[in-house]
Amino acid sequence: MAQRSGKVTVVGAGFYGSTTAQRLAEYDVFETVVLTDIVEGKPEGLALDLNQSRPIEGFETTVVGQTTGLDGSGYEATAGSDIVVVTAGLPRKPGMSRMDLIETNAKIVRSVAENIAAHSPQAVVVVVSNPLDEMTALTQLATGFPHHRVIGQAGMLDTARFTYFVAATLGVPVGSVRTLTLGSHGDTMVPVPSRCTVDGRPLAELLPAEQIDELVTRTRNGGAEVVALLKTGSAYYAPSAAAARMAKAVHDDAGEVMPVCAWVDGEYGISGVYLGVEAEIGKEGVRRVVEAPLTDSEKAGLLEAAEAVRAKQADVQDL
Ligand code: NAI
Ligand code: 2OP
Repeated sequence: MAQRSGKVTVVGAGFYGSTTAQRLAEYDVFETVVLTDIVEGKPEGLALDLNQSRPIEGFETTVVGQTTGLDGSGYEATAGSDIVVVTAGLPRKPGMSRMDLIETNAKIVRSVAENIAAHSPQAVVVVVSNPLDEMTALTQLATGFPHHRVIGQAGMLDTARFTYFVAATLGVPVGSVRTLTLGSHGDTMVPVPSRCTVDGRPLAELLPAEQIDELVTRTRNGGAEVVALLKTGSAYYAPSAAAARMAKAVHDDAGEVMPVCAWVDGEYGISGVYLGVEAEIGKEGVRRVVEAPLTDSEKAGLLEAAEAVRAKQADVQDL
């Protein structure tokens, strides 16, 4: 095992945060994973449990649990983090849209972001709290960090869902399928069928257009489908895998191109908005946004998503 290095903090020890902390610890590449929550004892208990799994799973990363107060107490334990994953906030209930969470989660995310900026001024922040595109914009505003150091997680998850649905429909390994999802983590999500291949063959050669449309719709509703089945809370296994991979790409300075929510400034003719796009991820967060070749209708979908999230992101300044 190579030398472990770096400190990553996961804020919020609910379903998303605790599974993200587990994945990050099990990678065994970080020196320390810090898990925080405002519920007294919860992060400490989960950290103890995770540390007790180390002899069985064979990883040496230390997990630290820390209760934080609404006044910012406890954030000293997160000081100097290289990466912070923000999962604090309410999940939606059946029938709710992600946007229904905006007022409550904006208050939570703003205070979390201010504490991150005070204690980990050099961190790369990966935001997951919903509504995702707006909470990412708010985190950048509240931290004052350069845009490239604040990224949102949505595209990795939505793309994985699209990939899984294609693989399950065709009965092929998920590893043989490539898909892409851009745009918002909401109604204006843009699954990109023209970039979908199975063992290098275009999806359009393997499935009729109506069936591809059904998979696109199922991908757009991927989060709601899980919420409706769970009845309480939302998905966390695939979401935590997505956020943890992003954090690892930052840690490894990987240069991996991933679909993420990133600040777009000129690409696709779009400027000044956080939007789901492909980006090269390294130590500094986003190295550059990578423009994908799109059909005219996919490009139109992306422009529509940009304008929809731009309007909402302007609102978060006052929340
Ligand atoms: P959860 O309810 O299980 O956990 C949320 C945790 O945040 C709770 O333990 C709560 O005590 C904590 N919390 C609240 N205020 C806090 C604060 N100021 N500081 C620290 N912790 C605080 O919810 P879950 O399932 O973990 O989801 C978390 C968020 O992630 C939700 O907003 C959900 O909508 C979002 N989400 C985003 C996805 C994405 O793709 N971007 C996918 C799935 C969920
Ligand atoms: C998801 O897509 C609810 O955003 C969450 O699962």
